[in-house]
Amino acid sequence: MSEKKQQVSRRQFLNYTLTGVGGFMAAGMLVPMLRMAVDPVLKDTGAGDFANVSLAIEDITTEPQRIDWKINQVDGWYESEVNKSAWVFKDENDEIQAFSPVCKHLGCVVSWEGSEQHPNEFFCPCHDGRYYKDGTNVPGTPPLAPLDVYEQEVRDGMLFLGDARPKGEA
Ligand code: FES
Repeated sequence: MSEKKQQVSRRQFLNYTLTGVGGFMAAGMLVPMLRMAVDPVLKDTGAGDFANVSLAIEDITTEPQRIDWKINQVDGWYESEVNKSAWVFKDENDEIQAFSPVCKHLGCVVSWEGSEQHPNEFFCPCHDGRYYKDGTNVPGTPPLAPLDVYEQEVRDGMLFLGDARPKGEA
């Protein structure tokens, strides 16, 4: 009885070796690419979070006051600090109003009583855009929609603000 030895030829050896090394290299490239594609989907974007804007409810008056705060924003793989602002006051029903200062015309920043000719209104200096105190755009001025309204919560006597949404949706 003769035992037949299996010989691996040089050509076969090279084929096996190159296939193995190629497979490792392909896997090494594919795994990070897959991770990059899937990772942002699994991560919490932070959208919908409420931020403590460091304003006590008892300090909110009927006079709109501008408040500024920062949030950490995660956009895919890019993390950044974003400045946010709001005009906050209590209306005639003692309800807290928090408006975005971003003009609905072309995005300039509105200010409370920013024009001497138009007291008791929000004013946008870019194209003389005007809004009533309740955030509604004054007809005949460039803005065609009311100021956006921040989602809000009160926790332990402090004001927390979320995303700004079109009036009626917040
Ligand atoms: S950007 Fe505000 S009026 Fe044009």
